[in-house]
Amino acid sequence: MIITVDGPAASGKGTLAKRLAKHYGLPHLDTGLLYRGVGYLMLQGNHALDDAAAAARIARALDLSKFDHETLRTDAVGEAASLVAAIPGVRAALLKLQQDFARQPGGAVLDGRDTGTVIAPDADVKLFVTASPEERARRRHIELAARKTPAEYCEVIADIKKRDERDSGRSIAPLKPASDAVLLDTTQLDIEAAFRAAVAIVEAPRAGRTRP
Ligand code: CDP
Repeated sequence: MIITVDGPAASGKGTLAKRLAKHYGLPHLDTGLLYRGVGYLMLQGNHALDDAAAAARIARALDLSKFDHETLRTDAVGEAASLVAAIPGVRAALLKLQQDFARQPGGAVLDGRDTGTVIAPDADVKLFVTASPEERARRRHIELAARKTPAEYCEVIADIKKRDERDSGRSIAPLKPASDAVLLDTTQLDIEAAFRAAVAIVEAPRAGRTRP
């Protein structure tokens, strides 16, 4: 079974994808880490973030196993990731790896922005996870403080809105629900409730019911 979980920043898609993978015994790929890896190496190498040739070269040679994933989770790296993710050569370089991951025997869970639209359009279940920008900023604000990289709430929400706009407005693989994705709004849901709702969505077709 292939499950894709797409959605905007801090919507809860990563946590849900991880929980679903554990629940169904499937491997999980956080595709955002790939773009974060490219963004991080661009910053480290002092490359301009619109240097398409350098970004594509870095993407082609990317080896995520060499990273401490925590260093990729900062806001600066997220911003760099969002910029390099709009470069077609970067997306092309990361495509096969993601498709191969999705198509492994037994299936997989992938989360990101385009996993249901571009990477695995044939996925068995597609979730599109959203929450209001204010709620997402509240969550990211808490997460950043817990990581000892606190930021002002007003900066966090401005960053989230800017990233939403860039990710949704880009011409290549924009953030948007696949036509057959099920929307899950987690604004009013805690992690447990969101997980239960996600499992219900995965189980619905198996139970022969209409998806909620
Ligand atoms: O955790 P958060 O949602 O903040 O970010 P992420 O999922 O790690 O993704 C970081 C950036 O990578 C996003 O803002 C997107 O621009 C880009 N991305 C993408 O273009 N396609 C994906 N499948 C995953 C991430």
